[in-house]
Amino acid sequence: MSDSQPRAIPTALVSAFRGAFGGKPSGVWSAPGRVNLIGEHTDYNHGLCLPLAIPRRAWVAAAPRADRRLRIVSRQVPGERTIALDGLLEGNRGGWAAYAVGVLWALEQAGHEVGGLDVVVDGRVPIGSGLSSSAALECAVAVAAVDLFGLDGYDGEEGRRALAQICVRAENDVAGAPTGGMDQSAALLARADEALLLDFDGAPADTAPVHVPFDLSAHGLALLVMNTRAEHSLDDGQYGNRREECRAAVAELGVPSLRAVQPGDLDRVLPRLASEVLRRRVRHVVSEIERVTQTVDALEREDFAALTGLFDASHASMRDDFEISCPELDTAVETARAFGALAARMTGGGFGGSAIAIVPASLVERVSQAVTTAFADHRFREPELFPVTADGPARRDR
Ligand code: GLA
Repeated sequence: MSDSQPRAIPTALVSAFRGAFGGKPSGVWSAPGRVNLIGEHTDYNHGLCLPLAIPRRAWVAAAPRADRRLRIVSRQVPGERTIALDGLLEGNRGGWAAYAVGVLWALEQAGHEVGGLDVVVDGRVPIGSGLSSSAALECAVAVAAVDLFGLDGYDGEEGRRALAQICVRAENDVAGAPTGGMDQSAALLARADEALLLDFDGAPADTAPVHVPFDLSAHGLALLVMNTRAEHSLDDGQYGNRREECRAAVAELGVPSLRAVQPGDLDRVLPRLASEVLRRRVRHVVSEIERVTQTVDALEREDFAALTGLFDASHASMRDDFEISCPELDTAVETARAFGALAARMTGGGFGGSAIAIVPASLVERVSQAVTTAFADHRFREPELFPVTADGPARRDR
């Protein structure tokens, strides 16, 4: 699944659409996957996170249908799926296609008139890699639907924030993954060469994101994605379990959210929690939000050396306190650091998926080789490693 010629993808997708449905699509749209630099499991705790879009994208070719059905095929998954928009929550939600039909459903729930669509998908964000392949699909379908049905209110940054909420609703209510809003916000709001500081305190879509310069190549550095290929899923209960634990801690502490707990108050607050597990969960969330602020400060000062300690502390917090790492992620992070990465940590929801490393550009090969060798030594699946730059948001491609 190479992305060496991303400009060829829309052309190939038009042919695939003709092959699948006979006619020409009305257009081709795409949305990116993401990595999160820091700030994990903070979004649904009203906290901060710092994602950026990556050049691996989900592309969709689409045309409206006269009826209220979504007919969808993927170049990666065999078989065609047809899902009725009416009675969606009671009926067939289409498996992976729920991410697409869910967006049409959520747009209707928001009061828009939408119809059916024929869609061909070419998803180049590796599935189950923790790089938000599902949000990329949702957001590509969302921008396609906005164009094809002429929906108002989704222009500009504010409109895109509202569209992100639609996509979150699709993911939560139709696809059944109880995720926060980081991935969809990244896919719709990110900018090339910048990271996106998102603040989830306050009403959804209320807080404008801050764009933080992130052009590592100008500093002789590269961002390496290390997809461990250890299976990761957001709807298998583990992610939801962490969310529940945070909710339980909020209730026990009687605070509006974990954002309301200051790092300096932890010594006083943690003993009020009855369970040791909840104490560790809270310590992760509160300290992680603080690390996002410190990371943004470091990036603004161009003090990349400061990222070493911040990423190390973040990874340790996810491994030991939030308990969402796994042997493959730990091996990737430790090996990258041992072979010259300036900073490394797991990224995304955890329990598998990907880690990231900030590496001197001259050491990318060496670090990649070392991680691949370490995985072979541990008899893990072969990892997939690739450098990324911060890419732009969901868009129309033709
Ligand atoms: C997944 C979810 C996000 C976020 C991260 C963890 O990617 O979709 O909402 O909670 O996990 O930071």
